[in-house]
Amino acid sequence: MSARRRIEVRNTTPTDFAGIIALTEATYPGSPPWHRTQLDAHLQTFPEGQLVAIDRETDSIVGMAASLIISWDDYAFHASWRDFTASGAFSNHDPAKGRTLYGAEVMVMPGRRGLGIGKALYKARRELAEQLGLLRIRAGARLRGYHRVANRLSAEEYVNRIVTSRLSDPTLSFQLRQGFRVLGVVPNYLSHDPESLGWAAVIEWLNPNVASEHPRVVHDYGDTPVTNADQRGTMPAHDIALGASGTPNDDTTTRASAPTAPGTTENSDA
Ligand SMILES: CC(C)(COP(=O)(O)OP(=O)(O)OC[C@H]1O[C@@H](n2cnc3c(N)ncnc32)[C@H](O)[C@@H]1OP(=O)(O)O)[C@@H](O)C(=O)NCCC(=O)NCCS
Repeated sequence: MSARRRIEVRNTTPTDFAGIIALTEATYPGSPPWHRTQLDAHLQTFPEGQLVAIDRETDSIVGMAASLIISWDDYAFHASWRDFTASGAFSNHDPAKGRTLYGAEVMVMPGRRGLGIGKALYKARRELAEQLGLLRIRAGARLRGYHRVANRLSAEEYVNRIVTSRLSDPTLSFQLRQGFRVLGVVPNYLSHDPESLGWAAVIEWLNPNVASEHPRVVHDYGDTPVTNADQRGTMPAHDIALGASGTPNDDTTTRASAPTAPGTTENSDA
């Protein structure tokens, strides 16, 4: 069986918790992993939004993605991961009012990355948004490679270079490949993350079955359009997309695991 075909993405069950905790520990060594009570709360709150990727051959967890539904207008554009996820509890899940699937977590086992597992998880996430008729998926993409260039580039310039393919980031480049676009850049998203230094790109994928032809105008759907240019540390996607391009690719990609602050305090994102 090819590596890709032996991967199955399905909804999480309680029997997966040990594998998810091991995956978190491998992804964020030194940080508190997801706790069983949190994982259980996610299943109680929104079982459809919790996904695992299984290696059928070894019956082991090699990836996971966790999501909840939020009403975007209830949050500041520069809100943190803790705000968007109720500190990882997902008690703010709001399917009655919300039209945004929020990506709270995605991880693939180190050593199994670059094989299409993250892509399969994101495909399942998009399908879920379509099935539920949601307007979009949004997430904070932690800028995992930013620490490498922080002494010479602002976070906005870093993102600009990633969007224009002059730099590569191990998370944001992946998410752009999945059809997401950058809405802005925000500080203090994961305040204890030594790789992103707290910076994240707010990213969005619009459900083509629901969104209007003009993706910036979402009045028709009852959501306030993003007007974040005046907020600290943010910039409109328009500006990023218009950045200069064409210089050689200065790849800052790193696959080193991040001793960030997941689990009980600040888990990862997207
Ligand atoms: C981000 C992550 C989930 C990606 O998972 P993955 O299984 O390695 O990604 P895939 O192999 O499915 O890659 C899908 C696409 O993204 C691209 N991609 C993946 N990693 C990339 C990188 N480091 N740089 C550039 N592109 C990348 C692949 O080339 C592929 O492109 P293609 O569709 O044209 O073939 C994984 O690296 C991870 O777990 N990182 C640590 C946790 C983390 O930071 N999560 C994100 C928080 S915002």
